[in-house]
Amino acid sequence: MTGNQAPSPGRLAIVGAGVIGMSCAWRAARAGWGVDVVDPAPASGASWVAGGMLAAVTEAWPGEEALLELDSASLRGWPEFAAELTEAAGAPAGLRTEGTVVVAAAAGDRAELDDVAGFLARLGRQVDRLTARELRALEPAIGPDVRGGLSVPGDLAVDNRALLSALRAAGEKAGARFVTRRAARVTDGPAVELDDGSTLAADAVLVAAGAHSASLHPALDGLIRPVKGEILRLRHRRGALPPPGRTVRAVVDGRPVYLVPRDGGGLVLGATQYEAGFDTEPMVAGVRDLLRDAERVVPAIAEYALVETAAGLRPGSPDNLPLLGWLGPKAPGVMVATGHHRNGMLLAPLTAGAVLALLSGDPVPQPVAAADPARLLTETTVRR
Ligand code: GLY
Repeated sequence: MTGNQAPSPGRLAIVGAGVIGMSCAWRAARAGWGVDVVDPAPASGASWVAGGMLAAVTEAWPGEEALLELDSASLRGWPEFAAELTEAAGAPAGLRTEGTVVVAAAAGDRAELDDVAGFLARLGRQVDRLTARELRALEPAIGPDVRGGLSVPGDLAVDNRALLSALRAAGEKAGARFVTRRAARVTDGPAVELDDGSTLAADAVLVAAGAHSASLHPALDGLIRPVKGEILRLRHRRGALPPPGRTVRAVVDGRPVYLVPRDGGGLVLGATQYEAGFDTEPMVAGVRDLLRDAERVVPAIAEYALVETAAGLRPGSPDNLPLLGWLGPKAPGVMVATGHHRNGMLLAPLTAGAVLALLSGDPVPQPVAAADPARLLTETTVRR
């Protein structure tokens, strides 16, 4: 990584109070940094909308082995992160450890399941095949169209909203200050210019503004794009079959859908994926597909209450890996932690640990090297 160490610990300004910004804020404040977190609406955006899967294995894809390594390293850190956060916040971090099942509904979808199983087996990941009978013994809510699946006990989930409120509480208790203004831009120096014309100076600035990161610093221009996703929140109603205890991921007529349980009979359905700019309006077609596909997998949801529809913007990067590191000598004191795309919740512990290491000038954990922004900056810096 580009050495660009700030005086440690000094003042850190973080732009973005989503899961990444607030995880870094809590860890940095706990380590003695004076932290300001700039966000007009803390705990909103994609972090508020998220399904909350911690799906290192079941979101893995051939060709994205570096991402799988990052995701797996972060997943291993999740239980300790959640336990420490729960204690620091005095409120639950929302971790659920029931695990995940992956299923296919139509006959044509089973080939995809076989591909996933084959890929993961080649990587030596624990994936157990389940017959329809075994699957329904685990999760009686799964319907008759589903003829079998895979059990991935290590892929967990988190209640994103419980997590965000615990992170804010723990951050504030550790001394982090929330500045509820919009950041206009981040300047080298480093500093954050706010929308009221004032400037927040710091020893280091961390850009962690998710899909909005690209407009904050010229070096990030064109590197982060919004990837829209709709989610639905359902609630079990008395008399209906209870929701699954595990996360259920399915392929239905080629379309992916996931159902992530929450305490108290809640169920989050997601998620569509479109390149639609900064559009956060849920669309009829997305909601229709999610409901129709999820009902094929868990028919009882037809009797649940539909309590929320929402859309969020994942921060996509050109290679689906996050950008995590100093921006380099041309942007002294400016660090970035964005581009987490579909894995923001999952990657929060690893990201916060890496940011703290970078701030202190310590080496980052090995898989984080793949996320060094230098891999993408070279070309853009040359173009400028
Ligand atoms: N990780 C789930 C999603 O992005 O929809």
